[in-house]
Amino acid sequence: MYIKNIELHNFRNYGDLELEFHPNVNLILGNNAQGKTNLLESIYVCSMGKSFRTSRDSEMILFGEDFGRVRVEAQRDYYDTSVELIFTRDSKKSAKVDGVKIKKSSQLLENLYMVIFSPEDLRIVKDEPEKRRKFIDRELCQLRPKYYEDLSSYKKVLLQRNAYLKEFDIDPSVMDLWDMQLARYGASIMMMRADFIRKLDKISRGIHGAITNGGENLQLKYVPNVEPAASLSELEERYYQILRSSYENDLRQRTTTKGPHKDDLEFFIDGISVRNFGSQGQQRTSALSIKLAELSLIKEETGEEAILLLDDVMSELDLQRQEFLVKSLAEIQMFITTTEIPEKLKETLPDGKTFYVNAGSVEEE
Ligand SMILES: Nc1ncnc2c1ncn2[C@@H]1O[C@H](COP(=O)(O)OP(=O)(O)O)[C@@H](O)[C@H]1O
Ligand SMILES: [Mg+2]
Repeated sequence: MYIKNIELHNFRNYGDLELEFHPNVNLILGNNAQGKTNLLESIYVCSMGKSFRTSRDSEMILFGEDFGRVRVEAQRDYYDTSVELIFTRDSKKSAKVDGVKIKKSSQLLENLYMVIFSPEDLRIVKDEPEKRRKFIDRELCQLRPKYYEDLSSYKKVLLQRNAYLKEFDIDPSVMDLWDMQLARYGASIMMMRADFIRKLDKISRGIHGAITNGGENLQLKYVPNVEPAASLSELEERYYQILRSSYENDLRQRTTTKGPHKDDLEFFIDGISVRNFGSQGQQRTSALSIKLAELSLIKEETGEEAILLLDDVMSELDLQRQEFLVKSLAEIQMFITTTEIPEKLKETLPDGKTFYVNAGSVEEE
């Protein structure tokens, strides 16, 4: 799939903008703070319904304006589709797919598939577990609408349970209601995470091997907070029992101490923890491998080629990795932002367009 064009109105530092994109490479050049990432964000938001940079939608509205709008038209394998989002300062955002207003955010997620790779992702191996959970959540939300729904429900119940733990007068039967719900949604999330990481592990192993010319053997491991079980119902029962038995402790700490909100993902190269012992190069290559694996997995599960957004990462990778990235992705649509493109890399890039961004206006080469 690829994005054919975009229309922005009062989005970040763009007043009005219309662009036609290339089905392969779209190179977005410009100095710092001109609007390169803003442009990627506007594309990304049409796929996920929310930004990769902020959880406050209103930040995406041009300063001083009441609402902002973004619209993209995309070509999928067999049909065209359009997505339009409107953000307002005082009410919720609204979204249209093919001109029809959608009711649930999950309906947006199945429409456009995107993978974003930013400098932050290069630190994913070393960063705190929350970043890795976010990565898993983002990808699973795209692939499984049910995951999105169960995760939203889980988070809601978790907030309620945590708030309840802070009250003075706790009724065990009310607590039990929270526990049952948390166990149901939590078990579903954990099953899907385990399955996702198993698949991602398999694919990224091959990719990592190719980048390192067979020199390194990457392994991904799901580190669930609740011990896995053979079936969904067993896991639900196990998590429910764990919630019950950690009740006293939760009460003391006034928060829910057990569950998938404490999960993690670990990276190993040749059996050794990359987080603890890997070089910076190995950490970055591992990050690159899982990003490329994501693209493959989306293709495998949906039949569609996802769109790759590369925000300022080229300069952080050495030439060999840059070339690997570009060559292995010759077929898909890419958006590459950077302040400078190395001449050597430009020669190896497949067909494309170049855009220059300057203070919220864009010129095509
Ligand atoms: N809501 C907004 N309204 C107007 N300008 C904004 C808004 N949000 C961010 N900006 C401006 O956008 C610029 C940063 O754009 P960005 O795309 O991150 O830059 P870069 O080209 O370095 O990727 C900054 O000058 C910032 O002030
Ligand atoms: Mg930027």
